Amino acid sequence: MKKELIKVPKHLGLIIDGNGRWAKAKGLTRSMGHKAGFSNLERIVKECFYKYGIQSVSVYCFSTENWNRPEKEVDYLRKLFKKMVDGDMEKKYPEVRINFMGDFGKFGDDIQKKGSALMERTKKNTKFTLNLGINYSGQDELVKAVNDIISEGIKEVDRETIANHLYTAGQAPLDLLIRTSGEYRLSNFMLWQVAYAELYFPSCHWPAFSKKHLKEALYEFQGRDRRFGAIKE
Ligand code: IPE
Ligand code: IPE
Ligand code: MG
Repeated sequence: MKKELIKVPKHLGLIIDGNGRWAKAKGLTRSMGHKAGFSNLERIVKECFYKYGIQSVSVYCFSTENWNRPEKEVDYLRKLFKKMVDGDMEKKYPEVRINFMGDFGKFGDDIQKKGSALMERTKKNTKFTLNLGINYSGQDELVKAVNDIISEGIKEVDRETIANHLYTAGQAPLDLLIRTSGEYRLSNFMLWQVAYAELYFPSCHWPAFSKKHLKEALYEFQGRDRRFGAIKE
């Protein structure tokens, strides 16, 4: 019998890749792939919080590089993000703070206004945090942190100063990063936070990443020997 799951990440990152390839393999449009991907995201995120008690889940939904995609695809994603900020997020994710990472206002004033209000309303939720990277770039996050530090007049900077100026300020360090679809790169996601994260690259495309796959990833994480530079004597 399998061992019990006792060591669960406090902070999980998800690069939800492969929506397009999943759709193509099924003869569907890329938009249908995103639709399936984002409905799967809801299922998996709920499992993370309410079954496993993971405190923070950070999701790469749209990168600053994704503007290079055809307008039709970007428009469809905009629709999905609009639904997110219009929808009943608080009902879907009770006790969860919704925290957007990135310059999500580039998707329009409506998304900017509703998204900011959603962040403000859910700020009080300290048990769980869902970080949604929308128009996100890890390099831009660091540039923004540096500029904020300068404008605050801070003269001496250490690791903590930088960490406190990131979108993930105050949250647990990233423990595990999962990227689906068999791509072995970060594509500009959470470059600072990934420093000591365990990396996991399942081959399945994101819309097909099931609760069972999540469980497998968590068991894999539990089995990893995290040494943080030290040795075992
Ligand atoms: C990732 O899936 C989701 C977003 C970028 C929103 P892709 O759209 O990158 O899917 P593939 O990589 O083309 O299969
Ligand atoms: C990374 O996936 C961004 C998201 C999952 C939102 P991409 O599909 O855009 O990354 P590349 O182009 O393969 O590096
Ligand atoms: Mg991709």
